Amino acid sequence: MLPNVKRYLVTSALPYANGPIHIGHLVEYIQTDIWVRFKKLMGNDVVYICADDTHGTPIMLKAEKEGLDPEELINKVWKEHTSDFAAFSVDFDNYYSTHSEENRELSELIYKNLKKEGLISVKSIEQMFDEEKKMFLPDRFILGECPLCNSSDQYGDSCESCGATYTPTDLINPRSAVSGNTPIKKFSEHHFFNLSDEKCGSFLKQWTKFPSRLQPEVKNKIDEWLNDDDGKSKLSDWDISRDSPYFGFKIPDTEDKFFYVWLDAPVGYYASLLNWCSKTGKNFLDFTQPDSEIEQIHFIGKDILYFHSLFWPAMLHFAGFRTPTAIYAHGFLTINGQKMSKSRGTFITAKEFLSSKINPEFLRYYLASKLNGSTEDLDLNFSEFSQKINSELVGKYINILSRCSGFLMNIFNGNLIPTNELKMDCESAKQLEFAFENKHSLILDCYNKRNTNRAIREIIDLTDNVNSFIQNKKPWDLAKQISETNKMHLKVQLHLILSLAINYFAKLTILLKPIVPITCKVIEEEIFSLEEPWDMLDYDRLCIGKIRGFKHMLSRIKPEDLETLMKKR
Ligand code: MSP
Ligand code: ZN
Repeated sequence: MLPNVKRYLVTSALPYANGPIHIGHLVEYIQTDIWVRFKKLMGNDVVYICADDTHGTPIMLKAEKEGLDPEELINKVWKEHTSDFAAFSVDFDNYYSTHSEENRELSELIYKNLKKEGLISVKSIEQMFDEEKKMFLPDRFILGECPLCNSSDQYGDSCESCGATYTPTDLINPRSAVSGNTPIKKFSEHHFFNLSDEKCGSFLKQWTKFPSRLQPEVKNKIDEWLNDDDGKSKLSDWDISRDSPYFGFKIPDTEDKFFYVWLDAPVGYYASLLNWCSKTGKNFLDFTQPDSEIEQIHFIGKDILYFHSLFWPAMLHFAGFRTPTAIYAHGFLTINGQKMSKSRGTFITAKEFLSSKINPEFLRYYLASKLNGSTEDLDLNFSEFSQKINSELVGKYINILSRCSGFLMNIFNGNLIPTNELKMDCESAKQLEFAFENKHSLILDCYNKRNTNRAIREIIDLTDNVNSFIQNKKPWDLAKQISETNKMHLKVQLHLILSLAINYFAKLTILLKPIVPITCKVIEEEIFSLEEPWDMLDYDRLCIGKIRGFKHMLSRIKPEDLETLMKKR
């Protein structure tokens, strides 16, 4: 174990339970899973928590449309989501649901504590109401003409055609997306979290200032949201209630008011943690009390920064809990340069990807190669995808094993020269040793910073070095000479070259473990017959004596595999 073993609570955003996991989502779950695997392989104590986000109007209406109770719908979706995640090796320690007793209790507790702090107020507001359906309409369920450019069929909050933002009452000829009727305006009492209170503003200014809590570009955005020109906080109070009918939790001491889904969604992180604590006998308060030393890290997409870097820390702080250590935001996935869209046929679900013949780890590798720890968007380009996999993962990395294992099996019965006797007195071996030593800490640092783009580039660079070494030493020539002359010193020479190359192949496998864990597991078990899997620290203390023969484990991506993926919709 490293001397500085740390404890972490890590989360990914909770996906909505009204639709399937798609490859845009996977950017986040794969990024988080890689980081968590890396931290665990470094000997840290990490718990990776997630859940389905189950409440709100869209889920209620979707269930109604499918003729299901909301509970039935969310149970069905939970099973689909968990099986998709498992297929992409996203390895949560607990995957729960926001529709749980733990979440109800924690949401109520946080609400009551905020109330005690004087941070909850009740105000009457006017909203669009569907008289036939007897429900208030969320912005996304009102359609009409844009008040600015007159485009038809625009949502109640913004125009997709000219980009204007407005309130639903501004729409021309509004109609309810649920019934098609013209909604009326109606007043109702709402509960607010008083973010405009001076103490919230000053807390958040302090909180967001803390170094390494937010990425630099995120910090700038947050500062814009937080401060007006006079340096005063410009946060407005946040409406945390919704009227019945609503699928969610009833607000304590009210008849028919429910918590808005975004109130109980982040609390769902803690609810899932609490559920995991009771299953494993861990102490929930160790994680959540204000002086907790366990780091709390939230991975999210940049679209939900507002909730995670303003609302959530303020909720936690004023309700008497610790606040997040850091928020790690990523950008959005586009496909072949364009936004994922059903009409363009680029909305690819996890299930559709799995039903193509392409190995799910290839998507992990490709997405990792595009992620650099910033909030820049990333593009899945199909030709780059197959080119990268075929040339790097199969053509360079696995190639080392396939080039060496035949000779090793045929001539040496799979036995390797013991790792501690592997000294070769030549320039190219020394260079190789130097490269592997030199790049090691850089690669670990890249993983730490979620710059898997750079980590992969460095790993592939090392792979190139090993391949050049093999090219340079021409083991095939030596093998031929041995078969003709059976000279002992040539045999020793060949054995050394092959053993060295295989040792470096093992080091590369260790470095790739967080990204392609199943491939690496097959290599550990079926090539090296390990009883215990390697961790990151084995890089410097490898000890391998033998390989079993080559096993075919990765096939190249063929053009027709990509065609089936594209044809799917
Ligand atoms: N339910 C909320 C999160 C609540 S967290 C307390 C939500 N759900 S979501 O299903 O819409 O998105 C889940 C995560 O996937 C978000 O972090 C979101 O940014 C991310 N992504 C969804 N589509 C994405 C892409 N096309 N590209 C990258 N990430 C994307 O938001
Ligand atoms: Zn418009």
